[in-house]
Amino acid sequence: PKDAVRILVTGAAGQIGYALAPMIARGIMLGPDQPVILHLLDIQPVAESLKGVRMELIDAAFPLLQGILATTDVNEACKGVNIAVMVGGFPCKEGMERRDVMHKNVPIFKAQASALEQHAAPDCKILVVANPANTNALILKEFAPSIPVKNITCLTRLDHNRALSHISERLNVDVRDVKNVIIWGNHSSTQYPDANYAIATTDIGEKSVRELVADDHWIDYEYINSVRERGAEIIKARKLSSALSAASAACDHVHDWIIGTAKGTWVSMGVYSDGSYGIQPDIIYSFPVTCQKGEWSIVQGLKINEFSREKMDTSMKELTREESLAYSCLNQT
Ligand code: NAI
Repeated sequence: PKDAVRILVTGAAGQIGYALAPMIARGIMLGPDQPVILHLLDIQPVAESLKGVRMELIDAAFPLLQGILATTDVNEACKGVNIAVMVGGFPCKEGMERRDVMHKNVPIFKAQASALEQHAAPDCKILVVANPANTNALILKEFAPSIPVKNITCLTRLDHNRALSHISERLNVDVRDVKNVIIWGNHSSTQYPDANYAIATTDIGEKSVRELVADDHWIDYEYINSVRERGAEIIKARKLSSALSAASAACDHVHDWIIGTAKGTWVSMGVYSDGSYGIQPDIIYSFPVTCQKGEWSIVQGLKINEFSREKMDTSMKELTREESLAYSCLNQT
């Protein structure tokens, strides 16, 4: 039997945490033959609620779940973790600006970076979910300099999955028959859902989604906006932000990173930019990636037209502004 993998979930008493922990314990993240030990971190004010989550996980009697550590001590939580899913943070409440949220979250990520650096397993893979996800990941990288940059990523898979499903609905094909959409940029309203390379499998074989849809206005406007606005639409309907779909996307992200992407298929991940596609190096930007043996690589050689270029650059510029804002928050604390 395989050794158990230790997985940290921060913000484990929150809504995404509540959906994510059982998915991991059921083997959705790492597969049905991989035992796991969950490290659940949250903060003191919700310590009781965290205890409750722990009790429910025990009661579910998950065969793959070999242990649960539930704690409010960040150093204890990070001990020996192989995978860290960073969901915890201060939520954006009504009337708060992005700047206010950053003021709260940047110091949290600075502290968690140090704890991971000191206590996590040396090859620990990190997925940042908490917003602003790309910038939080960058802060984490900054304050955990001994963790390889390749191991620090952020979640844009939810946007990627939404993009696949919007196309599947439009074409009336199964979502598993749609692939190779791209989310470029920031996990924010400037993200660019690009369907130019998307492919759908139909009775007549693999076809370009743009050709099958045969409506450029839909691809270039309605689709882009519907993917970008889906999060807001869910908040409006549920009065809470996406949780089960975010948890599921976090599982997909880690699953594909570790187990690999299928031949001829790519996924979107927020990763450290190496300057591919003219994107400023050293920011965390969402790119199309393929994964093999636990390593992601950015898909190379896609032709970028003027329409795409402009949208990719807009999101890049927003990220560089966010980065300076994050640093100014740090200097003030
Ligand atoms: P939530 O408010 O229900 O849960 C957040 C949890 O984090 C709370 O239990 C809170 O006590 C905890 N927390 C706060 N400070 C902490 C700290 N220093 N250490 C550990 N835990 C801490 O929020 P929800 O809905 O679970 O969302 C979590 C984050 O994920 C939010 O930032 C949200 O914006 C983001 N998100 C990102 C998505 C993406 O696609 N990247 C999609 C959906 C949400």
